Amino acid sequence: MKKTFLTALLMAAITCVAYAEDGSRLWLRSQRNSDLCEITTKDKSNTAKIATRELATYWHGKPVSLIKDKTATGEEGFEITTDKSNGHITIKAKNSCGLLYGAYELLRLQDSGMPVDNINIKENPAVKYRILNHWDNLDRSVERGYAGLSIWKWDEINGDKGTMSLALKERLTTYCRANASIGINGSVINNVNASPKMLNTLYIKKVKVLADMFRDYGIKVYLSVNFASPMAEGGLKTADPLNEGVRTWWKNKVNEIYKEIPDFGGFLVKANSEGQPGPGDYHRTHAEGANMLAEALAPHGGLVIWRSFVYGNHEGEDRVMQAVTEFEDLDGKFNSNVILQTKNGPLDFQPREPYAPLFDQIKHTPMMAELQITQEYLGQSRHLVYLAPMWKEFFSFVNPKQLIGIAGVANTGDDANWCGHHFSQANWYAFGRLAWDPTLSSEQIADEWLKQTFTHDTAFINPMKEVMMSSREACVDYMMPLGLHHIFKADHHYGPEPQGFYPKYPIEWCPVYYHKADSTGIGFDRTMNGTKAVSQYRHPFDSIYNDINTCPEEYLLWFHHVSWNHKMKDGTTLWQSLCAHYNRGVAEAKRFAETWSKMEPYVDRQRFMEVSQRMAEQVENAEEWRDTCLKYFQTFSRQEITK
Ligand code: GCU
Repeated sequence: MKKTFLTALLMAAITCVAYAEDGSRLWLRSQRNSDLCEITTKDKSNTAKIATRELATYWHGKPVSLIKDKTATGEEGFEITTDKSNGHITIKAKNSCGLLYGAYELLRLQDSGMPVDNINIKENPAVKYRILNHWDNLDRSVERGYAGLSIWKWDEINGDKGTMSLALKERLTTYCRANASIGINGSVINNVNASPKMLNTLYIKKVKVLADMFRDYGIKVYLSVNFASPMAEGGLKTADPLNEGVRTWWKNKVNEIYKEIPDFGGFLVKANSEGQPGPGDYHRTHAEGANMLAEALAPHGGLVIWRSFVYGNHEGEDRVMQAVTEFEDLDGKFNSNVILQTKNGPLDFQPREPYAPLFDQIKHTPMMAELQITQEYLGQSRHLVYLAPMWKEFFSFVNPKQLIGIAGVANTGDDANWCGHHFSQANWYAFGRLAWDPTLSSEQIADEWLKQTFTHDTAFINPMKEVMMSSREACVDYMMPLGLHHIFKADHHYGPEPQGFYPKYPIEWCPVYYHKADSTGIGFDRTMNGTKAVSQYRHPFDSIYNDINTCPEEYLLWFHHVSWNHKMKDGTTLWQSLCAHYNRGVAEAKRFAETWSKMEPYVDRQRFMEVSQRMAEQVENAEEWRDTCLKYFQTFSRQEITK
């Protein structure tokens, strides 16, 4: 009897393992080969070994040769060609990492069902730096993380021995493979609100263990640093960038890091922003602060990535204008290894923002765009919102050729499925793909991600691709349509609070300050009659946005205070249009849930159930957004809420 029970339990456990589809494999789901495929290379590097192993294990086609050829491509590019006579495939690259990227490209073609009998591809990444920014704290909490604790289990890394636990190694191998498969070549592993402890020797040794692992996958490690580290870690009395003792402290610290990690990427810095220390504390400029670090890093080839997300230092000035005010005069004053990293919009990762005009104003300093993969303001890990269309929208205003790099605030955590929502994995994937090639369409990326992650069945792919493609606009509609922004709840930023939260918080964090609803209308006047934020845009956007008749309706309430009865392009009034957008957003969320409910035959049980549960929540949340916002705005418009 007992034995039967145990056998049943064992069988149940085995079945569970066999059918568990927890999403931990991400999009890396190639079928293993029963026979090893013939892969040859003379490149003896570890990176080439990984490329060979990936292909030998997962490639199902004709033999592949990996050839290093100095003249073939740019630093990280690759070429793939099929020999028509025998179908053999050659991947050529200048460097080993190009061979690895080529190998993953080949697997992507195979796994997304593209033809592989006549390949002729030559690729080079669009930008040099394609970096994840993890906002992970040393205690493993993750700022704006919605997928569990940090993936860096510091306790399981032994810096003295240079080892990590097997479980961590396995998990982080998936992290490296996933990143390399989409061309990500850097990882800032800690929060921009950085703990000075990150620079403690104990942690530097642990970071070395990560760097040693990431290197073979073409990924460099970077650290966020706290500008006051010389005081907190070094015991100095000041962190003034012009102080000799401070400068020496940073030089020594940088030397210590490079001794452990010879290819260390550099520092990411949030300074004089949201309470973080910075050069401004000593009446020094951002350039003086950045250049001090740049001098320490330059001999080793390291970068300073200085964030422009700075506000609150110009009392009374419209927050969205402050980055330009702060940085325009410093353009040209930064050392050559300093990069300015700027969020895509001038405010803070809202569901829709116009592009940040700092990209127009900075002419002499290399720029990186900072995108947010973690969906802080777009339903976190509870809503299906595919972000590629939002990023493509940004690239339609800011030419990626103008950028030296693209950073993405990561959405990873220790949840089995890495990102909280199975479909949030698509945003990590899309970030890498777009940073590599911003000309790819959102649709193509969705298509290849779905095929690799779920199934090739068109009865699944077509409807779910359509859902993904519509999801960002739906989110804008049910949260903040027509240019509304910053009307979320305080602290956790989840859910609506349009009436919020002055005087508990400074005015520049208050929803009422941003929507400015009153009896005459709604919206923030940033025209030449208002804050003049429009003037920071290049021509013709300055005048297009300034004129209520030419301002695109999706940005209307961002740039204009508009009367409730203003006639919209479709002939309805602003109030009616607002109601229509909120209703449309809710209807879309319902449609997404409905579509997903029909996908059961094509998806494993676990992922089907987990996504279903989140879809239901998305509908509830969308309704809450609509009802809360419209009821509140109605107290000013005094008009009927239309359904
Ligand atoms: C947002 C976010 C913060 C983050 C900040 C930043 O304001 O809510 O958590 O620290 O951006 O980008 O620095």
